[in-house]
Amino acid sequence: MCGIVGYLGSRPAGPILLEGLHRLEYRGYDSAGIAVVHRGRLKVTKAAVRVDELRELVGKGTSSTVGIAHTRWATHGEPTDANAHPHVDASGRIAVVHNGIIENAEVLRKKLTATGVEFVSDTDTEALAHLIAAEREVADTLEDAVRAALRGVDGAYGVVVLDLREPDELVVARNGSPIVLGIGDGEMFVASDVAALVRHTQRVVYLDDGELATITKDDFRTSTLQARRTAKTPTTVDVAEDDYQLGEFADFMRKEMHEQPEAVRRALMGRLDERFSTAHLGGIELDARALRSIRRVKFLGCGSAYYAGQLGANLVEEWARLPADAEPASEFRYRNPVVDPDTLYVAVSQSGETLDTLAAVQELKRKGGRVIGMVNVVGSAIARECGSGVFLHAGPEVSVASTKAVTNMSVCFAMLALLLGRVRDLSVANGRRLVDALAELPAQIDAILADEEQIIRAAERFSAAEHMFFIGRVRGWPVAREGAQKLKEISYVHAEAYQAAELKHGPLALIDERMPSVVLVPDDELLAKNLGTIEQIKARGGPVIAVTNAELPDGLADVVLTVPRSEPELDPLLFAIPLQLFAYHLAAQLGRDIDKPRNLAKSVTVE
Ligand code: F6R
Repeated sequence: MCGIVGYLGSRPAGPILLEGLHRLEYRGYDSAGIAVVHRGRLKVTKAAVRVDELRELVGKGTSSTVGIAHTRWATHGEPTDANAHPHVDASGRIAVVHNGIIENAEVLRKKLTATGVEFVSDTDTEALAHLIAAEREVADTLEDAVRAALRGVDGAYGVVVLDLREPDELVVARNGSPIVLGIGDGEMFVASDVAALVRHTQRVVYLDDGELATITKDDFRTSTLQARRTAKTPTTVDVAEDDYQLGEFADFMRKEMHEQPEAVRRALMGRLDERFSTAHLGGIELDARALRSIRRVKFLGCGSAYYAGQLGANLVEEWARLPADAEPASEFRYRNPVVDPDTLYVAVSQSGETLDTLAAVQELKRKGGRVIGMVNVVGSAIARECGSGVFLHAGPEVSVASTKAVTNMSVCFAMLALLLGRVRDLSVANGRRLVDALAELPAQIDAILADEEQIIRAAERFSAAEHMFFIGRVRGWPVAREGAQKLKEISYVHAEAYQAAELKHGPLALIDERMPSVVLVPDDELLAKNLGTIEQIKARGGPVIAVTNAELPDGLADVVLTVPRSEPELDPLLFAIPLQLFAYHLAAQLGRDIDKPRNLAKSVTVE
């Protein structure tokens, strides 16, 4: 999604802003722009180009120590030079960068046009620039003008405003789209994502929805849209610049897949209790009695986080014997759900900023639901909205395709299921079996990664496929969905996931020699059934890639990808890893831009 960077200090703003935009490239964008003060005027450079090309266009030669910059992911209007941000009012004094969508932009546009304003772009943001300029004529300060303008705006925004007449300050505001202030030594940064500022500072302040800040190079003050002062204490982000460096890897997705053993170790650290064969999830803030009062668990997330939630729901049902399910947060928020006080709702998100998931949490809270977050990014909107929960500790994830965060979601769900199980019927012996199995996961993931070669060969062999099936049964079903999702999003190869037994109810008609199937075959009580599924596919000429920890009959599958043996309930966590690698290497064979798949963005802060 769109990215925002702002700077105010004593150093030249241009290079800092461009570097900040570069750090945000991973979020996905189609155009970029920057505004600085140059020789008493606003100098705006923007175009439907990559950040490197923008750098060329900007060139050298401005010593401005203030500026704002943006990467745009088109919503209102095509990705063109004119629609790129920053947008400037008709007098050329007010520049605005904006993330989000202004829902009443058309109404505002008509009103402004009626007063003689001429629009030069198709964006909703331009209306905001004109609106702030109009308010600035009557307001005492830029902050008052921005506040007045935003009161007339419906929709989501993260916004930064620069006024040529007041180059010693920037005004920023947030409603539904993240904004973080970075506090330096005699300089201030603004960004939509800490990735853009951790190079300079780790002291940050997250704005809340409905909050505004005026920043100068030495200070900031925050207030609400109603002009009530708010108090913010800076926090330190536990993210280092190195986390955003590729190191020995060609892209972030591969780097992040290889970070999984360490990420899982971090998620487990201090949370497994061998003595009582349970897990401690301090952030949940529910004692054993409260945990026992839970009658149902529901996971809410989007995309891969939703599929991971399905895996979590299976674990809760198996270990805690509580009814559990997962639902896309985007559906939940709109369907007037029955909110049950005995249900524990779990909001799942890597970024913590996914608008649909955030809105689902808000809807839940409005209706008195009990919700916890399982979120990767500390300080993110969903983490703060939930108030309590479990951090995933996967570390920063840059690649658009989520890998280590999804793995850590599953690990944290397993610990939640264990905890809920152990205050119910799960025996000490069973708890112990699962604690031991969880502790072994990092080494087992390491072993899968060490065997990447087998997966590379499989990806090479099937790289010409135009369609693919991913088949899983019961525990394997969410993994099959996630495997298909990964392949689709980074390779653009069409992939569908099916439950094994559903094949014969329709999809089997599509099986022929041009339709390879990736079949998950764990060595569990359903092994014979899954072998039967492979037979059915082979009988129709379909090539099969089996992912398994069982001994398969010779020649049954065309390719066998082996996975270490865990406890059967935890197999799905391990089976997901070769599917990530398979998608990755197939996309690499096809020469795709793996970290930045077309049409996708890292954190989806619009509907
Ligand atoms: C797929 C992927 C997306 C996200 C989804 C939710 O690889 O990354 O499907 O899982 O957009 O994002 P978060 O977890 O940030 O809420």
